[in-house]
Amino acid sequence: MTAATYDRSAHDAVELIRLKRDHGRLSQEQIRWMIAAYTDGYVGDEQMSALAMAILLNGMTREEIGHWTAAMIASGERMDFSSLRTPEGGRRLTADKHSTGGVGDKITLPLAPLVASFGVPVPQLSGRGLGHTGGTLDKLEAIAGWQADLSNDALLRQLDEVNAVICAAGPGLAPADKKLYALRDVTGTVEAIPLIASSIMSKKIAEGTDALVLDVKAGSGAFMKSRADAVELARTMVALGTDAGVKTTALLTDMDTPLGLTAGNAIEVEESVEVLAGGGPADVVELTVALAQEMLTAVGITGADPAENLRNGRAMDSWRQMIAAQSGNPDAALPQAAHSHTINAGVSGTMTRMDAMSVGLAAWRLGAGRARKQDAVQAGAGVRMHAKPGDRITEGQPLFTLLTDDEHRIARAQQALEGAVDVDAEGGPYETPELVFDRISASDLTD
Ligand code: URA
Repeated sequence: MTAATYDRSAHDAVELIRLKRDHGRLSQEQIRWMIAAYTDGYVGDEQMSALAMAILLNGMTREEIGHWTAAMIASGERMDFSSLRTPEGGRRLTADKHSTGGVGDKITLPLAPLVASFGVPVPQLSGRGLGHTGGTLDKLEAIAGWQADLSNDALLRQLDEVNAVICAAGPGLAPADKKLYALRDVTGTVEAIPLIASSIMSKKIAEGTDALVLDVKAGSGAFMKSRADAVELARTMVALGTDAGVKTTALLTDMDTPLGLTAGNAIEVEESVEVLAGGGPADVVELTVALAQEMLTAVGITGADPAENLRNGRAMDSWRQMIAAQSGNPDAALPQAAHSHTINAGVSGTMTRMDAMSVGLAAWRLGAGRARKQDAVQAGAGVRMHAKPGDRITEGQPLFTLLTDDEHRIARAQQALEGAVDVDAEGGPYETPELVFDRISASDLTD
């Protein structure tokens, strides 16, 4: 049932809102009608926000979430990569990754070319950042000349020739989700697990990837603050992907601490290039390799060592081709912020905590992120971290460098970082928490 074909008189929005308010189950037909009528404008924002709040409070069954996701997919176009063929004529399976978002999460940048360097097409349709988590497109736009927008034909051609594409998701993909997500953003209903899961998975299923690896983050810098909620979200998304015929797995990863030593745009590109050159921070390398392994296994490539292609330059070759194919210059100097300010350690000891949310907020206030969709981001803005939990630090040594084009932003960024770091002056033993703390695949789902 598309927006053009549904029957306005078939249902009544108030009845459906009452049904969910009173803990009832919505049928497939009712869900399809509601999404079609909302996309069309027949059901108003006030009615959809009441339903979204009832869903947040009372939840949905796996069946309802499946129908909701299918209805959002049906609101737009579906992409099809089945024309990608080997020279012998066999199907080339595509693999994609989606992260639920975190601070310093630049993993898509080294990951897409790394997986592509094994001959796997990676269609990575991405978004821009809103709030304290950065957007992949904002980061890549720090590279001179790089273009985020590709037509469907250009995307398919680049996938065939270069294997890796990171580009903007077009407006035709799940338009119902675009409208609903903007509404949830202003009605306190973003955090509903059925709505997050269906929002993410409708776009990924409509994109048409064969395999999908989810990086579901838990912690202060993530959507899901608790590990239990992150596991529930991961299970819901793996179930949706599996039911839709997409080979889906999820890694559950820590987001109490920022990833790597940079949070911003150009500085995250710089760190990603270090990883592609065989170096870079250990946590960024660990997660990139773990996700690459999952993606390769999902398309039937076993026994490969992704770390080897970071060391031998193959992943870097893929990166350069991928950037150049979208008019970017991989050799151009990255933009630098006009102003910098260093924050030094007040005491000596062992760092035991660095709060991801505080670092994300500081980077955002410095101009790396946007408060409104229409705002521009500063390519050079962000936070460089000079130490991480587990490191021994000495009073007076630099902890953070704040970067921005607007000097007046520094004071508010400094405020965000007050209390962001704990130091054990005794310098006692510190145990680094596991970065990947769980994995969910279809075989872990019982119902
Ligand atoms: N990302 C999405 O695409 N949708 C959500 O609901 C939350 C995060």
